[in-house]
Amino acid sequence: MHVEIKHPCVLHKLALIRDKNTGHKLFRELATEITMFISYEALKNVELQNVQVETPVAMANCKTIASNLVVVPILRAGVGMLEGILGLVPTARVAFVGMYRDEKTKLPVAYYKKLPESRDNSVYIIIDPMLATGGSTVATIDLLKEQGAQSIVVVCIVTCPEGLEAVEKAHPDVTVYTASVDDHLNDHKYIVPGLGDAGDRLFGTK
Ligand code: PRP
Ligand code: URA
Repeated sequence: MHVEIKHPCVLHKLALIRDKNTGHKLFRELATEITMFISYEALKNVELQNVQVETPVAMANCKTIASNLVVVPILRAGVGMLEGILGLVPTARVAFVGMYRDEKTKLPVAYYKKLPESRDNSVYIIIDPMLATGGSTVATIDLLKEQGAQSIVVVCIVTCPEGLEAVEKAHPDVTVYTASVDDHLNDHKYIVPGLGDAGDRLFGTK
């Protein structure tokens, strides 16, 4: 299942981030802002707990987040979304997973992982701007499930029908939240129209 966030503010920022003339500074800022909007929606179903807070006037019945949130950026481009989601949930833990797509085979290659100890009621939020073939996301979900993860959502900026289908087929229990389901993948397995190479655009490496 997937949820596409079509809020006017997101659509506006998407137009700016797609522009090939947008440089890495603005690209990073937009990635942070768009991530906040998508994550806001993706966190809608986290568990809450009742708490009592004393205001200057009286006791108030309030709620705080009870789920143990673990944000999982897929290195390297996922790091460009970290500030955005931590702006919403600053106490979340962070689990890094290193994964790059082999340029020839287009298959994900895992090269690093550092996860926090698994805890009860953990919700894992995978962040990666691009969900293209879905290979990197599916491999990351596989890895998290091998470590005992039971509740996983994915936040990406742009995806396409091919990638969503791959995730849905391998992991029907995982919902993907995105700002856009684009048209298709080209022969190089790039999303069309997409954003181009998100890692290079975020970090100014090309
Ligand atoms: C990009 C992107 C995803 C992956 C998407 O990473 O950030 O991780 O490709 O492709 P997929 O859905 O077909 O697996 P890339 O391999 O460019 O590595 P980088 O983040 O280090 O730039
Ligand atoms: N990785 C990217 O950075 N962009 C794409 O369109 C596909 C994979």
